[in-house]
Amino acid sequence: MPLDIIVGAQWGDEGKGRMVDLFASGAAVVARWGGGDNAGHTVTVGDTVFKLHLIPSGIIHPHTIGVMGNGMVINPETLLAEMAKLEELGVPVPPERLRISLNAHLITPAHRALDAAQEQQRAGGKIGTTLRGIGPAYVDKAARRGLRVGDMLDEEDLADKVKAHVENTNLQLTALYNAEPLDPDEVAAQFAEYARQLKPYIADTSVYLHQVLADGKRVLGEGAQGTLLDLDHGTYPYVTSSHPIAPAALVGLGLGFNAVGEVVGVTKVFQTRVGEGGFPTEQDGAVAERLRGTGENPWDEFGTTTGRPRRVGWLDLVLLRYAVRVNGLTRLALTKLDILSGLKPLKICVAYEGGGRTHRELPLGLRGLEDFKPVYQELPGWDEDVRAVRTWADLPQAARDYIHLIEEQSRVAVGWVSVGPERDQLVARG
Ligand code: GDP
Ligand code: IMO
Ligand code: MG
Repeated sequence: MPLDIIVGAQWGDEGKGRMVDLFASGAAVVARWGGGDNAGHTVTVGDTVFKLHLIPSGIIHPHTIGVMGNGMVINPETLLAEMAKLEELGVPVPPERLRISLNAHLITPAHRALDAAQEQQRAGGKIGTTLRGIGPAYVDKAARRGLRVGDMLDEEDLADKVKAHVENTNLQLTALYNAEPLDPDEVAAQFAEYARQLKPYIADTSVYLHQVLADGKRVLGEGAQGTLLDLDHGTYPYVTSSHPIAPAALVGLGLGFNAVGEVVGVTKVFQTRVGEGGFPTEQDGAVAERLRGTGENPWDEFGTTTGRPRRVGWLDLVLLRYAVRVNGLTRLALTKLDILSGLKPLKICVAYEGGGRTHRELPLGLRGLEDFKPVYQELPGWDEDVRAVRTWADLPQAARDYIHLIEEQSRVAVGWVSVGPERDQLVARG
């Protein structure tokens, strides 16, 4: 059985957690390959709303084992808090249920302090990061001076490495950003305690995943962030510092090409973005309020991790086609169809205009995205409440037409349509 991959096809928050929860029922292992606690994945089960930042969302199913792959950057403080929160919600996470890669990198308070200091002073304006220390941790990784999960296996070595890391970061904090330094001994003591608690979870997860696949079991790769936030393929520099796209699942988990099965792209039926950067179909006014919601409902468009109101707009099929290409998507999973009920007419961006021409593909990748003007196709929309619909045939014709346009333009079949945040609020298409 293969590795199936669930990937965000937009700027993150597409509803990956909700779709992973669905597919996890048939998987032995759910594995995250990148990012850190900048992610916020929501799974709603009855009255309980789980918000996962680090631990793979599959953990909510009692039979699945979670893997945190080598491509991740892990803040042990958040991880332990998340474990405690899950336990409170009736999902304990003992070592038998979670394996953390030796080669994943660690995020420290020094990384967080640097993220905040850099955001404040960034030339050319803020990126709008989640301030979780993600960028600085990946910088240390690429500079070959990072702290790795495996470093927690040797107490003395860990203390030396943490202190050297804090001292080095202090130099940057004080000299470049006029920010407060951290106490290296204090951070080293914190990490000694994290190491004591997390040691039983540390493993060579590449070996483990190979074995699971060799045993004929199914592994699900859980994407974090989204295609357009990819460091290479996203809207640089307004991106994250990792590779949310599907091909990176192999590098971030220590698997080879022969492992891959389906690659499912999750996309909302409209577009959202949190943080700065180009967004051609962005709306304000009444349409935006309608798409965003007021914040009363847990699914309204306010960041899971930071609580920031998300920017919202019409679905952009030029960007979706781009996501199909760079991920190799085999099927699409649509979310939040229920939100479009009663919003009439609906618009979908099918091309861009720029330089006196119409473009179906951007001429220079995502470069200069903000300078293009969306070309919209208008659809009538529908009034019916779709939240209780469970079959394709019961969806309003206008909703099916909207979905057909997505399929026709992306050339990828829609396999699933989510009509609400709950587990069962789903239309699966044969
Ligand atoms: P992720 O980061 O991709 O896992 O997405 P988030 O959890 O950050 O944001 C998606 C939000 O939409 C969450 O609040 C989900 O509960 C909610 N959600 C997912 N699918 C649907 C849906 O079909 N309808 C509605 N109303 N909410 C949904
Ligand atoms: P999930 O997994 C949406 C965005 C931030 C910012 C940029 C860089 O829930 O889809 P970072 O802290 O990563 O350096 O911030 O990336 N960002 C996300 N936006 N969903 C996410 O994760 C995100 N993770 C990072 O808002 O614009
Ligand atoms: Mg999210």
